[in-house]
Amino acid sequence: MKPSYYILLFVLFYTHLASAQKAQELSKEADWTVDKQRTIIDFDKNWKFYLGDTAIAKEPGFNDGQWRTLTLPHDWSIEGDFSETNPGTTNEGALPTGIGWYRKTFTLPAEAKGKNISVEFDGVYRYSEVWINGHYLGKRPNGYVSFSYDCTPYCNYGSEKNVIAVKVDNSAQPNSRWYSGSGIYRNVRLVLTNKIAIDHWGTFITTPEVNKKDAKVNIRVVVNNSTPGKAGFGIAFTDIYDASDKLVYADKPSAENTIRLSDGKMNINYTVRVAAPKLWSVDRPYLYKAVTRIVVDGETVDKYTTLFGIRYFAFDIQKGFSLNGEPTKILGVCMHHDLGALGAAVNVAALQRQLQLLKDMGCNAIRTSHNPPAPELLDLCDKMGFIVMDEAFDMWRKKKNKYDYSLDFEQWREQDLQDQIKRDRNHPCILIWSIGNEIREQFDSTGITIARQLAGIVKQLDSTRPITSALTETDTAKNFIYRSGALDLIGLNYNQQVYPDFLKRYPGKKFIGSETMSALETRGHYDMPSDSIRRWPLKGQKFVPDGNPDYTVSAYDNVSAYWGSTHEETWKIVKQYDFLSGLFIWTGFDYLGEPTPYPWPARSSYFGIIDLAGFPKDVYYMYQSEWTDQPVLHVFPHWNWPTGKVVDVWAYYNNADEVELFLNDKSLGVRKKQPGDVHVQWRVTYEPGTLKAVSRKKGKTILTKTINTAGQPARLELTSDKKILHADGKDIAFVTVKILDVNGNIVPDADNKLTFEINGEGIIAGSDNGYQADLESFKGPSHKAYNGLCLIMVQATEKTGAIHLTVKAPGLSSGNIQLQTK
Ligand code: GAL
Repeated sequence: MKPSYYILLFVLFYTHLASAQKAQELSKEADWTVDKQRTIIDFDKNWKFYLGDTAIAKEPGFNDGQWRTLTLPHDWSIEGDFSETNPGTTNEGALPTGIGWYRKTFTLPAEAKGKNISVEFDGVYRYSEVWINGHYLGKRPNGYVSFSYDCTPYCNYGSEKNVIAVKVDNSAQPNSRWYSGSGIYRNVRLVLTNKIAIDHWGTFITTPEVNKKDAKVNIRVVVNNSTPGKAGFGIAFTDIYDASDKLVYADKPSAENTIRLSDGKMNINYTVRVAAPKLWSVDRPYLYKAVTRIVVDGETVDKYTTLFGIRYFAFDIQKGFSLNGEPTKILGVCMHHDLGALGAAVNVAALQRQLQLLKDMGCNAIRTSHNPPAPELLDLCDKMGFIVMDEAFDMWRKKKNKYDYSLDFEQWREQDLQDQIKRDRNHPCILIWSIGNEIREQFDSTGITIARQLAGIVKQLDSTRPITSALTETDTAKNFIYRSGALDLIGLNYNQQVYPDFLKRYPGKKFIGSETMSALETRGHYDMPSDSIRRWPLKGQKFVPDGNPDYTVSAYDNVSAYWGSTHEETWKIVKQYDFLSGLFIWTGFDYLGEPTPYPWPARSSYFGIIDLAGFPKDVYYMYQSEWTDQPVLHVFPHWNWPTGKVVDVWAYYNNADEVELFLNDKSLGVRKKQPGDVHVQWRVTYEPGTLKAVSRKKGKTILTKTINTAGQPARLELTSDKKILHADGKDIAFVTVKILDVNGNIVPDADNKLTFEINGEGIIAGSDNGYQADLESFKGPSHKAYNGLCLIMVQATEKTGAIHLTVKAPGLSSGNIQLQTK
């Protein structure tokens, strides 16, 4: 559970190596040429967009000259204004939804004739319908699945233009319990292959036997032949490369990898061996690359790259989870898909920042609640070392909202689930499939049949991972999904009181804490006494009736929703028992929507360990002290209070026997965590000055932390998570603005209005302060700070050069930062 410093170094090293591994190369749209085998074109640029409905836009001759030009991924909801009257309600973030149209005009070179051409969408929220040159390609109700359409029969070549039109309909509201975003919010690619080619998501690599000496690597390939009557033989060679791109297995022709050509789809299934395999784990996420070549008549007609990992794992009834034979607690968080001020529009730099913050906290697992994620999230989890629970549905036939996916479940569940598994099953990070979250059918006998059907669909495509469903009904007799027998892992949401008795209640079953806590916090806000625990709201209430007038919630880990617990309450149980294989905390980050315990104007969640802007709340350090070996001493709250007020001071610490607290050099006593404790506390009568904490081990000082009483705001300080950005039009630097007093202390309640000026090769992609009831736009040139902090997301253009960002506030010295795009 506690990776040492050396392991961390190892992680950095291998993460670096692993990141050298790339799946398929993407060609830029501006300068692609037709490859002999497979061409994959980044199709995100130069889309036209119209917010509203206009059915004639599907016609190729429609004039979209007046429409806005934009680059995908795009989410129109996040660009809108918060309003109490938006039909999605605060549950969906109080942002606008509606209908939008996208069009893209492009040409295909004459050499593309004779190729198969398809367009791939990673996700469109929701009810997308797609046309090419006026021909209807299809619709997809589910806003989270990836899909592709064959455009070949309708394409034009040479100077004749092609038009893809996409209608996105997110107007039926409400349809979600959280912020969904609206639009083509994930990436799009155009793919050209030969007539004989590997099918879409056409490889499946598993490692059925792994030991020190070697690993058995099973390769399944689906080849599609769309040349009618083409006979003869083909060979599917799969060469395997290690993370430094060294060939470790060179394939040869054999009976197993030779295919007799027939029309349509052909399956190949064979096994190779990799000697002395380097195993994929959360501390050393090692990736191999399989390059499959299809050779027909001596010619390579397709080349397809699949990244994979070699690892084994088990869930044991008594001992819990182990990875590669090492007992490992799953220390996970649930995540929704929005990226704060970017909305749902996927961005790799933003995902990476989220994951890095979580990794630094000691988190090793992500649950993609409650839908298939962007493929880039899974790529990053492979590379950075996170275990993933990949979840399919938030509802089956029984709705949670009037217009949600329950309306489409009957017709689409099979295809949606199959597509999710086919797309995702090569990712070594995925160790659990979840077929549903808090599904209403757990309460009646239809839960039995549907759970079995869904589990059957999953098992047919992948039998290497356990299936779970996140349950709430703990009476086994009354839980029909449990009674279906279809689950390999019993996923419990909340109900931590039953964990200690799990083995008695669920004899012979394996546990996963599929969703836990639902504790609530606003960064930097503290309600005392810190040791009185509030359930906001109480059972039977929708909202807390007597909460704080400014819609804040205390950050002392002393508030939770009634169905959940504080962080400490559940973690203390989970850490005690090995058979509790792990937990997924609700949630890693605050997300848009679901602002429990408040109504409007609260519009984003309070559940995160980290706020919406990406600033850790105090409880982050509780986890860091428990989940890593890195020395931690975190002392809070701030030190600006009315004189004489009794203030609770908490410290999270590790690697030490005790902590001593001083106020203006006077000792307030030594505190030691008693067995089971995860923090220590002092009750202090406030006087301004300096609070100092010292952690010691065997008398030796380990860490010292001081907090000074801050004066008036005087200046702005800007720091960035990176100084150099890729000049790719996508990379983002996350710039933190701190409001400091003259002595450099952060002013803990400063909420100055900040204005931004940016010059050079960057734009402001968004700004946020993490306050859940903030109604300012994420996209404006200014933003108020909250509790001393503000975040500015600076996005690179495609040109190399410098970016200058200046932030100003009336009466304060401005802050500057210079970044570089390369
Ligand atoms: C759970 C649910 C989550 C979220 C959470 C808030 O019951 O699965 O989606 O709503 O409650 O506490």
